[in-house]
Amino acid sequence: MKRCLILFWVTLLAACAHRATTSPPQTGATPGQHDGATAPRRAWWKEVVVYQVYPRSFKDSDGDGVGDLKGITSQLDYIKNLGVDVVWLNPVYQSPNDDNGYDISDYRAIMREMGSMADFDAMLQGMHQRGIKLIMDLVVNHSSDEHRWFQQSRRGRDNRYRGYYHWWPAEKGTPPKRWSYFDEDANAWRYDSTTHAYYLHYFSRKQPDLNWENRRLRHEVYDLMRFWFDKGVDGFRMDVIPFISKDTTFPPLPAEYGGNYPAYYAKGPHLHEYLREMNREVLRKYNVMTVGEGAGVTTDDALKFVGDDRQELQTFFQFEIVERWGRRQGDFMYPDSSNRDLPALKDVFTRWDSVFANSGWGTVFLGNHDQSRMVSRFGNDTPRYRNASAKMLHTLLLTMRATPYIYNGDEIGMANIRFSDIRDYRDLMTINYYKRLEREGGDLREFLAAQAEVSRDNSRTPIQWSADSNAGFTRGVPWIRVNPDYRTVNVAAAVRDTSSVLHYFRRMVELRKSEPVLVYGRYQLLDRENPEVFAYTRSLNGRTLMVALNFGSGVGHTSLPSGYKAGRILINNMGIAPVRVASLVLEPYQAFVLELKKE
Ligand code: NOJ
Repeated sequence: MKRCLILFWVTLLAACAHRATTSPPQTGATPGQHDGATAPRRAWWKEVVVYQVYPRSFKDSDGDGVGDLKGITSQLDYIKNLGVDVVWLNPVYQSPNDDNGYDISDYRAIMREMGSMADFDAMLQGMHQRGIKLIMDLVVNHSSDEHRWFQQSRRGRDNRYRGYYHWWPAEKGTPPKRWSYFDEDANAWRYDSTTHAYYLHYFSRKQPDLNWENRRLRHEVYDLMRFWFDKGVDGFRMDVIPFISKDTTFPPLPAEYGGNYPAYYAKGPHLHEYLREMNREVLRKYNVMTVGEGAGVTTDDALKFVGDDRQELQTFFQFEIVERWGRRQGDFMYPDSSNRDLPALKDVFTRWDSVFANSGWGTVFLGNHDQSRMVSRFGNDTPRYRNASAKMLHTLLLTMRATPYIYNGDEIGMANIRFSDIRDYRDLMTINYYKRLEREGGDLREFLAAQAEVSRDNSRTPIQWSADSNAGFTRGVPWIRVNPDYRTVNVAAAVRDTSSVLHYFRRMVELRKSEPVLVYGRYQLLDRENPEVFAYTRSLNGRTLMVALNFGSGVGHTSLPSGYKAGRILINNMGIAPVRVASLVLEPYQAFVLELKKE
């Protein structure tokens, strides 16, 4: 087995070395005609494939059951061999971990469980040596309540840090309702007796919202961004960035929002002014990439954030795709298979593609640390279809006109763990909703059944490296249970099996990187009404590729677009050729990319 592994890595290293010498042309050039229209301007951050590492669950080096920086460093060759260009690392800053690092108590220090600043520097150096860029999480809508700023701020109404947070003096009465994502009572205001005032927290009580209307606070943020950029970090993923600006008169929620607080939170009065200021003060001085977490952002607002002329962000994540195929009930999202409407999902992809037709640029993802596993959600994780459907979803991610983000573990087809006992959960969101429902006498069984499908902990289980105990993640007790399927689904097994999801994923990444048409080419939806097959073309410089994806567990049918005949198949997730004359027949979850020739 050792020999197999060595052979595998040697082959991959050779492929990577080849790629390094054929790196993409410089930013600013135009890849040519875009089927009549001008293609988008080139930029390195449009051409990369991003791999998201959830550090707590990636690899533990010291046996405390929590993933750490040295663990990541030990797996850099693995990451390099995937062919990806950029790692997005979830927060590793000092934090009491109320929300797994999204509650930061020191923005310039490393969380003890993760290691030291020296470990961070070594990890970053190891990435750069391999030609991998690093983007970090910037979490500045809120800090931890254990941050020095908040400790000071709560001390007295005249403290010089008072204005860094949002306070509502209790003598004015109860503040107007604001909804909280994680609070046990869903109330975003928390009374603090020290100064007889309420502070605002859109997330947990331990995550007070920073006051961006305060100029000094904003400049503190710009300083800490420079600190990381000066260390060599290559960009930021910006946590709930649309929420930073607030109307500090805190009026009642305007009726037009129909109770939708997140939509309102994303429309603060000075939001774009602050993003432009951040760009002016920091971003434009570095060659870095930015991706905002576009919570609450709709297609109507998209270009305000990323339009070419805006000087704000480069890209953001939109959530319409991952919020499909579920049902919201109150504050909860339930899986709902009756809602599995493929044409509607195609429409979402198509609409978002068209938003960026002439300006801006998109991103695409189907999983992350806040979503359940991609293969369980959009594919089929039963043993029979798991590999095929995971490969099909990777084909989708890597053939869209948007920067693709792949969540760690998805490259081997990791699936939902589906906890049934509340004691297995670690995520404060599930735990606090449960407490609230319990108090209100709600249906806990129904809630747990839904969480088994949608809970964030589904994607936070340790990466399955091997069939060894704890999946080779830790020699200690893992902070969250390992998915018992690790005995068959693990990296070592995937490396050995050339038909694995892992090998396919790598080939798919290579294909995207060798075909500019898959990055910049015009996207055109085909066969919209087809309930099982998602098909589209990508065209650039007279070249047209067709992508066809069968989302169903039955045989699917579609056809070539008129005026074209089938050319070479560039990739196919099955041994079976799909082309039978002009019609295309797809096996369950079959996916392929086909070159088209004009008739
Ligand atoms: C979005 C992050 O992705 C999520 O994990 C976190 O809990 C919230 N923002 C609050 O920071």
